[in-house]
Amino acid sequence: MRVVVTGGAGFIGANLARVMVDLGLEVVVVDDLSTGSRANLDGVDARFLEGSVLEPDLLDEALTDADAVVHLAALPSVPRSVADPLASHHANATGTLQVLEAVRRAGGPYLVVASSSSVYGANPTMPKHEGMRTAPLSPYAVSKLATEAYTLAYAHCYGLDVLAFRFFNVFGPLQRADHAYAAVVPAFVDAALSGRPIPLHGDGTQTRDFTYVGSVARVITEAVRRRVVSADPVNLAYGGRTSLLGLIDLLEAIVGHPLARASLPPRAGDVPHSQADRQRLSTLFPALEPVPLERGLEETVRWFAQAHQTSLV
Ligand SMILES: NC(=O)c1ccc[n+]([C@@H]2O[C@H](COP(=O)([O-])OP(=O)(O)OC[C@H]3O[C@@H](n4cnc5c(N)ncnc54)[C@H](O)[C@@H]3O)[C@@H](O)[C@H]2O)c1
Repeated sequence: MRVVVTGGAGFIGANLARVMVDLGLEVVVVDDLSTGSRANLDGVDARFLEGSVLEPDLLDEALTDADAVVHLAALPSVPRSVADPLASHHANATGTLQVLEAVRRAGGPYLVVASSSSVYGANPTMPKHEGMRTAPLSPYAVSKLATEAYTLAYAHCYGLDVLAFRFFNVFGPLQRADHAYAAVVPAFVDAALSGRPIPLHGDGTQTRDFTYVGSVARVITEAVRRRVVSADPVNLAYGGRTSLLGLIDLLEAIVGHPLARASLPPRAGDVPHSQADRQRLSTLFPALEPVPLERGLEETVRWFAQAHQTSLV
């Protein structure tokens, strides 16, 4: 089975490519290396095509004889989209449209796309179930809503087999901590291991549904193998609700000492609370259970410590 992974040199994509190759799938990665890196695919036996999903010829080459496409390529950060909305729109919304056109030209390989919990935005209902009103608060969230809406509309208009996942806060090995738009787990782990104060935006009571990247890779791989389709978006998270202060407590338990915190202003476009309703996911993937948060965090800390060759004590 041949699977194209766009954004496969990124955090989630490279973890997914590794899982798929280990299971004997043939993987073709398309990535322009704007936020990802070749090093993420070290030791992964995948074909690598460097370039943008905005290039139709490159997509046609990648999709030749493909059975499935997992479209993860995007500029994935809320603050980055607030700083440069057009760049986010091009990569995320127009990029998805280009991938959909390439899927049509290729005769309809199965397609999984990555949307985001950020589409729920200002809607305060908890937990977030897929039927509720979306209310994006950032250009990034709008571009992800466009990603899933285009995908589901293409399924309806052109008979494509698709699945649009809404990822929540995915974390794990390979996630970058070394840029201004780093996600919360790598930013916290990196600070903890480097002896810097934990950069805490807001008061830390904001909550997130953290999902270990290994759990995400397993669900996507199963979707591809079984060609699981849905006419509506599907949350890819398991309903956990952890505050940032709670996350710091867990990290303190793992590293074995208290961690200083640096108080920073809240970030524009961030949502206060996020927690998934997992009903639809559990119906489609009844056998899959997530890696528990504590174990995923331990793996993540171990990877960061190895990558930075720091000691945990
Ligand atoms: N990490 C999360 O918690 C999270 C949450 C919700 C949604 N998502 C979505 O999951 C997907 C993967 O995110 P990630 O966290 O692995 O981010 P990432 O930045 O590590 O990966 C994105 C990859 O896409 C590549 N890319 C960007 N623009 C491209 C383009 N025009 N053409 C080809 N490649 C391009 C980047 O180089 C990178 O390798 C994204 O679509 C993101 O929006 C992630």
